[in-house]
Amino acid sequence: MNALTVKFPLAALVLFLTTSFAAAQEKAQLPPGLQFYKGREIAQTMSYHGARWLTRDRREREERCSLMWVNLGVKPGMTVCDMGCGNGFHSLQLAKMVGPKGKVLAVDIQPQMLKLLNERAKEAKVTNVKPILGTLADPKLPKGEVDMILCVDVYHEFSHPEHMLNAMRDSLSPEGRVVLVEYRLEDPEVPIKLLHKMSKKQILKELPPNGLKLVHQFDRLPWQHMMFFGRDQDFVPDASGASGSE
Ligand SMILES: C[S@@+](CC[C@H](N)C(=O)[O-])C[C@H]1O[C@@H](n2cnc3c(N)ncnc32)[C@H](O)[C@@H]1O
Repeated sequence: MNALTVKFPLAALVLFLTTSFAAAQEKAQLPPGLQFYKGREIAQTMSYHGARWLTRDRREREERCSLMWVNLGVKPGMTVCDMGCGNGFHSLQLAKMVGPKGKVLAVDIQPQMLKLLNERAKEAKVTNVKPILGTLADPKLPKGEVDMILCVDVYHEFSHPEHMLNAMRDSLSPEGRVVLVEYRLEDPEVPIKLLHKMSKKQILKELPPNGLKLVHQFDRLPWQHMMFFGRDQDFVPDASGASGSE
C-alpha cells in the first residue's frame, strides 16, 4: 500500500464526516415543525418517488398550466423563484419566459427532486435555472431581489409556515409578488386529497398576518386558486421572530 492509497480514503472519510456534521448541525438548529397552523392540518411532504405525477401528460388538460403561466405577469429579465419546484415542471417553463437575461431560482428540500430537475434542464438545454437546496424553514433566497415567487401545490406542505413566509417576504423586490396556487378546498369536484387543498378563507387567515397583502386574484383555473400577494408596507414584524403559533 503506498501513501496515496492511504491518503485518499482518509480524505474521503474527512469529507464525509465534515458534511454529515454540517447537515446534523443544521437539523439540530431547526425549530420544531407544526402539525396544525391556524386550524389547518399541515400535509406531509410529497416524496420524490411520486415525481412522475408532476409531469403527467394529462396535467395541462386537468390544470390548464398554460393559462396559469400567461397570467403570471412574468417578463424577460426577471428573477423568479419556483418554490417547491419538484422535478422542475414549472421551472423549465419559467426559464423560457424570463429568457437569457433572467433567472429561475428553483428551491426544494429534497435533493432527489433537484437531481431530477437538473437532468430535465440538461436535456432541454436550459442554463438559467439555479437549483437551491432549502431547509424546512429557510428557502435560502437572496434578500430583496426576487420579482416573483411561484408556489404551486406546496404551501400547504410547509411545516414551518411562518418562517417560510417571513423568508419569502424578505426576498421580494419592492414590487415583487408571491403567487399562491392551491387546489380549491371549496370545490368537491377537484379530485385531490383534502389535506392537499386549501380554501381562500384559510389562505387569507394565514398570509396577511405574516406581512403579505392580497393584491390580485385569477379565478379561471379549473382546479386551483391563484392568488397574488405583495409586501404589506405597514407590516411590523414581531420582534421575537416567527411565533410558531398553532
Ligand atoms: C406537490 S410537489 C409540487 C411540485 C411543483 N411545484 C409542481 O407543481 O410541479 C411539492 C414540492 O414542494 C417541496 N417542499 C415541501 N416543503 C418545502 C419547503 N419548506 N421548501 C421548499 N420546498 C418544499 C417538496 O419537496 C415537493 O417537491
